[in-house]
Parts: sequence; C-alpha cells; structure tokens
Amino acid sequence: MYRSGVGMAWNVFKFCTALKGLGSIMVLLVLSLIGVTYYSVVLACYGPDLFHGGLDTWVAILVLILFHGLLVMLLWSYFSVVLTDPGVVPPNWRPEYDEEEGVAEPITTTEFGASPLNEDGLRVRFCRKCNQLKPPRCHHCSVCGRCVLKMDHHCVWVVNCVGALNYKYFLLFLFYTFLETTLVSLSLLKYFIEFFGDEEIPNTPGTLAATFLSFVLNLAFALSVMGFLIMHISLVFGNTTTIEAYEKGTSPKWQYDLGRRRNFEQVFGADKRYWLIPVYSEEDIRRIPALQGLEYPSKPDTPESDTLQDFCIADLKATVLVNGFPCKPATKVSSHDFFFDGLTKKGNTSKTLGVGVIAGNVLTFPALNTLGLSMNLVDFAPGGLNQPHSHPRATESGVVIKGKLLVGFVTSGHVYYSKVLRKGGMFVIPQGLVHFQKNVGKGNAQLITAFNSQLPGSVVVAPTLFGSKSKPTLPDDVLTASFQVDQTVIDEIKSKFLGA
Ligand code: GLV
Ligand code: MN
Repeated sequence: MYRSGVGMAWNVFKFCTALKGLGSIMVLLVLSLIGVTYYSVVLACYGPDLFHGGLDTWVAILVLILFHGLLVMLLWSYFSVVLTDPGVVPPNWRPEYDEEEGVAEPITTTEFGASPLNEDGLRVRFCRKCNQLKPPRCHHCSVCGRCVLKMDHHCVWVVNCVGALNYKYFLLFLFYTFLETTLVSLSLLKYFIEFFGDEEIPNTPGTLAATFLSFVLNLAFALSVMGFLIMHISLVFGNTTTIEAYEKGTSPKWQYDLGRRRNFEQVFGADKRYWLIPVYSEEDIRRIPALQGLEYPSKPDTPESDTLQDFCIADLKATVLVNGFPCKPATKVSSHDFFFDGLTKKGNTSKTLGVGVIAGNVLTFPALNTLGLSMNLVDFAPGGLNQPHSHPRATESGVVIKGKLLVGFVTSGHVYYSKVLRKGGMFVIPQGLVHFQKNVGKGNAQLITAFNSQLPGSVVVAPTLFGSKSKPTLPDDVLTASFQVDQTVIDEIKSKFLGA
C-alpha cells in the first residue's frame, strides 16, 4: 500500500471515496428540487395567473417564458456535465520534448510519488495510484479513483469530476442555475409575502408549503451559486483551476496566464456563437489544444530579447538567411571585424540634391549582425536635401555635427513636426515615418544618424512612386488618379528621374 512521505500520516483522501456512495441520489435530489420549483411556479402560481387577465396575464407569460427557457438551458448544461467525461489520460501518454512547463509544476500533495527524470533530465509528473505519467495540469481524483485532465474539483451535485472537457458545461450550469433561481426567488416573493399577510390565501396547505419551500430553497441557491460563480469567473480569467489556485496561493506569476481574453477562450472557445451553450465548435476543438486537455500554451518566463552570444559577425556570402545573416566561424574572427572606418570619409555631395550618405549597417559593417543597431554619416552641400524617406524597420535618432539643418517628419495622422538644429542638436524620427533633412545654413552641414536595426531599410518617396527609366514602378493611371493630375504632369515628373 502506498504511504505518504509523512510516514503514518492519516490519508484524508480515503474519505472522499465515501462520496461515491451519494452517486445518482444527487441527480435525483437536483431533479426533485426542480420538480418542486416547477410545481410552485408553473402549476401553483403563474399557470393560474395566465387566466386572470390584464397585467397579471402579461407578467405570467413573461415569467413562464423565461422560466422554461432558462430551465431548458440549465438541464442541458447539467446533463452535459454529468454525462461528459472530464478527461482521461490516454494510455501510454508521454510528455512532449518541450513539455518543461507542465513538469515543472510543484508536486505537493501526498498522492504523488517521487517524480522520475525523463531522458532530457526534466522532472516528469507521475501518479503512483494510476501508475502512469501525468500530463500538465492533470490531477488524481480520489473520488473517481483516477487521474483527470486539468481537474478542477470533484462535484457531488453533478456526480462527476469537473475537468478539461466539462468545465465549460459546469460553468454554464452555474450560470443558468443562478439566473433560474434568481428568477424564481423574485417571482415567488409576492406569494411568500402573502403567506405572512392577514388575507386568506385560496391555495391548499400542500401548495402553500411547496411554494414556501421553493422560495426559500431557490433564494438560498441563488445566493450561494452567486458566490461560487464569482469565484469561478475570476479563476477562468486567470486560467487557473480550483486546485491550482489552492496550490499556487497568492503567487502573482502564473505560467498559464495568457491574458483575460485568451484565458477565457481556453475554456469557452473562440467562437462566440457557442459561448452560451454546452457545445464547442469543431474549429475550436481543432484550434485550441487546451480543449482536448493534454497541452496548454504557457507564456515564456522571460521573452528572449537579448542576444544569445557575444557576437555574430555576418557571413555576407551565406546563401541561407535567417532573418539576418548566419555567423562567420569564431575561429575566423579578428579585431579587424569589430572596427569600421567608413564614416571617417565624406559623403559625395556632388549629386543633384547635394547630399551624400555613407551607411554603417550590417552590409558594410558585418559585426552589427544580430545586434540591432547601425549608423549613417550624412553630408550636405549648401542647400542640400536628404529627400523625404522612411525606414521601415527602425527608429532613427541623429545629431548635427556641423552646420544648420531643418529636420522634419510627418506622422501617420498627417501632422508635420520640424525644427532647425545647429551643431550638437539632436532629433528622433519614430519608426517608419517619412522625414527629411535640409541644409539651411550658409556652408556645408554634417549629420550622424543612428538606428535600432542592423539594416533599417530606406524607402525614398519620390523614386519609389515615380521610379526611373530603368526601374519604372507604379502604373501611370495609378499615379494620375492618386495625384489627380494629367498624364503630362506625371510624364514631366518622371522625366526628372531619368538618369536616376
Ligand atoms: C537620415 O535621415 C538618414 O537616414 O541617415
Ligand atoms: Mn533617415
């Protein structure tokens, strides 16, 4: 016989087995409560009211429609919880290689045996009673005598365990029970008050007793189910089971917490049409592994934002690119790789717009590979313009090191911000926004810019739209319609880009 680690400690779980004895009696009890309520509301009180005429009739119609509607939903949810297996561990189930999250759960109760290590050196949860490995969030139920997937608790009212596959049905049962018992309490209130009044009541003592009992029981259930419902709503939004809430205490960090919306979908599915009925769409069952009870997405402990090695000098000749360049072998790395003198030169300002840019990005300085930054040197002749452009992959910051520059950018909401900067003046251009710099001083100007990307990319507005003779881009009819001008204007603009 298995003994807990506390030696001769008393095994309280044995007593849970006694709950099995209650079995179907609880189903009969639930049905009897519904029967008494049905008798009071429909047969004794509101059924007869239907024939009173006037407001009484309308109130009776409303109460009876709501009562029957909620009753159908309540019974549908109830029998779905009772008859749905909460989730059984498939025979010979073994954890996936990366099931680290699940096996790392604390093993606290005496029902667990020592947890062996798997081939990867990870701790695997094991149930000595069932003699099998346990998937993440699975627990042994001492009443059912077996392991239950994502076990929440054993519920005597539904004569079943509540687990991965029937938790939603259980919550709907609570929800409809709360609505139904509240409706019954409110609708029987006036009969309950009459009961204490001086006026003579026409009903038989049996009917009066049933109505009295129904009111008291429904009110008691409405209040207690409300508390239970509130507790479960907070558990659902935290993606926690009752057992897990007990085990983890008040610890704020919870690996399965994916945010309220996704936590809710892990129980109710993503398809809104199914949220209020005890059924899942096939699409949800396919797409949300948690609904099958064996796998649970969890948030990573810390997002991997830092690089995983000191450096990775880009191998620019590599043919396979992995969102950047693969690394040159460390044995071939030398001091030379970490220094770049490209920006000691001067940009060529003799071109049309009087601006020359020297780029210090991963293509010219491969040591920047994977490090998320790069720099440019921009030289301006008097009046020179670094024409409107944007960097799709980076925010830009710059500092004027010589001369006087007008720096401006336009937001996605068409707001234009600008300022004239002198030596030492610094600016920032948020990622992706169109910007320019223009030399507004008398002499030359110079600017150093920095980007939070090894290769920020540059989309220069004019040539992107009007292309060049060798690289025509947008069709003429798109340009004439967009700029609302004639073809001659487009031709005129395009002719300016001829040599470009
Ligand atoms: C300036 O705007 C630059 O992109 O270097
Ligand atoms: Mn720029």
